[in-house]
Amino acid sequence: MNIMVFLEEFLWGASESGFQFEMGDPSGENIDPNTDWYVWVHDTFNIQKGIVSGDMPENSVNYWNLYEKDHKIAKRLGLNAYRIGIEWSRIFPKSTSKIEVGVEKASDGNISEIEIDDSALEKFEEAANKTALNHYRAMIEDLRARDFKVFVCLNHFTLPIWIHDPITVRDTRLQKGPRGWFDEETIIEFTKYVTYVGWKLGDIADKWATFNEPMVVSETGYLMPQSGFPPSLNNFKASKKAAINMAIAHARAYDAIKKTDPIKADEDSLSPADVGLIHNVIPARPLSTESKADVKAAQFIDHLHNHFFPESACNGWLDTNFNGIKTKEEVKSYVGKRLDWLGVNYYTRFVVKGKKSLLARLFAGIPVIPEMVRNYGFGCQPNSKSVDGRPTSDFGWEIYPEGMLEALKLMERYGRPLYITENGTADANDVLRPKFVTDHLEVLDQAIAEDKLDVRGYFHWALTDNYEWAEGFNMKFGLYSVDMETKRRRERKSAKGYKRTIDGSPAPSSNSHP
Ligand code: BGC
Repeated sequence: MNIMVFLEEFLWGASESGFQFEMGDPSGENIDPNTDWYVWVHDTFNIQKGIVSGDMPENSVNYWNLYEKDHKIAKRLGLNAYRIGIEWSRIFPKSTSKIEVGVEKASDGNISEIEIDDSALEKFEEAANKTALNHYRAMIEDLRARDFKVFVCLNHFTLPIWIHDPITVRDTRLQKGPRGWFDEETIIEFTKYVTYVGWKLGDIADKWATFNEPMVVSETGYLMPQSGFPPSLNNFKASKKAAINMAIAHARAYDAIKKTDPIKADEDSLSPADVGLIHNVIPARPLSTESKADVKAAQFIDHLHNHFFPESACNGWLDTNFNGIKTKEEVKSYVGKRLDWLGVNYYTRFVVKGKKSLLARLFAGIPVIPEMVRNYGFGCQPNSKSVDGRPTSDFGWEIYPEGMLEALKLMERYGRPLYITENGTADANDVLRPKFVTDHLEVLDQAIAEDKLDVRGYFHWALTDNYEWAEGFNMKFGLYSVDMETKRRRERKSAKGYKRTIDGSPAPSSNSHP
């Protein structure tokens, strides 16, 4: 299974993105207390309720200071690509809302254009934290000096506390804010931040992702309070609003970087700014193909979770009522044709059941209430077997490699170059990961060689262990383990397997010791 090795341009990467990795300097110096997530995981009510772990991000892996070490490790693995994230709140620790920009609205009232002139740029320059900006520059330059292709993600779940106060939002049930993606003001402020970063770092970065997994933000934060994601509400309308605002923000950010980054960093880049999206794709299968309700539920989930966002960015279909039926009025030129590449994060699948509900149809306009079937996909017991006899991770996620092909096929219709931007498993003892990696790469190989899908790279999640959001340090995704006391990185067996695939060398026979 060495076909990919012969694709000369194929990118082999790993990710270390933003909040999950940055903090952890023992001197306490690199703490960023200005995000919604920082405040959220420190909140005693959340900790007592058990929806967040009580682990603190300031004890994380300290990529901020140890980035050279991690880049060296990645090089040793034979990687040629690296994904990092920029934290908005580090660049703008205080509100930028007083800096004036031109905001145009379409006839439907949505923000269709944001004009940023030189005088606004000057004000961004005054407001920005240059130390943080230069630190990101040093990180990217270090990667470039080691010949990595750098993918820069501009937003990975976290928002500055000045634009999203999740505790107030939770406690007042959205009556008070600032309310993050629930408010369109966030589109404007996000565009300012993206404009500034594109302007300042465009000379050293060509591959930009506006968002990591926007649908996860709108689903977990506004529909799944038990997930431990801020602001922990169960409000369908708010979830819709957040998704729509993020889809519009993607479009405005796309326009902004295109304008503000005219400099090609790498000669072989397609353009100075290749602007994509990192999207979590989850193939959804009905529990029974005989049951109309199950089939409808799977279609509904597939449409919302997998297609809502790329439909908007590629085809301009902003499905504002989430009903999956495309009408002429829902196709908006101010969001469409704004995607240069598509990153697919793949972990596992959904198996769904549908419950008929008149109330859901009347009040939310949804055909059936979808329900995830337990013991499949994300809903399994940790370290056990799914109903289909598949092993499950420390997180209780079913290992289902063929779903990666399904996920890629779902995205094929958008006709954009594809990358696997995340794929990995929580497995502290590294008993499942070696096979997880080989099995998924084999599926990827098939996707490229047999199904002829235009997949141009694979990024493992993650290079090192990370701060796993509400789960804190309980879930270990690293090819390298990290001792959170000493910050020492230690190679896991699976890292060796990944390296062997990249090198194209044959797997060792079963009696040799890796
Ligand atoms: C997120 C990562 C997270 C990973 C594993 C993805 O949804 O982008 O931040 O660590 O899943 O849960």
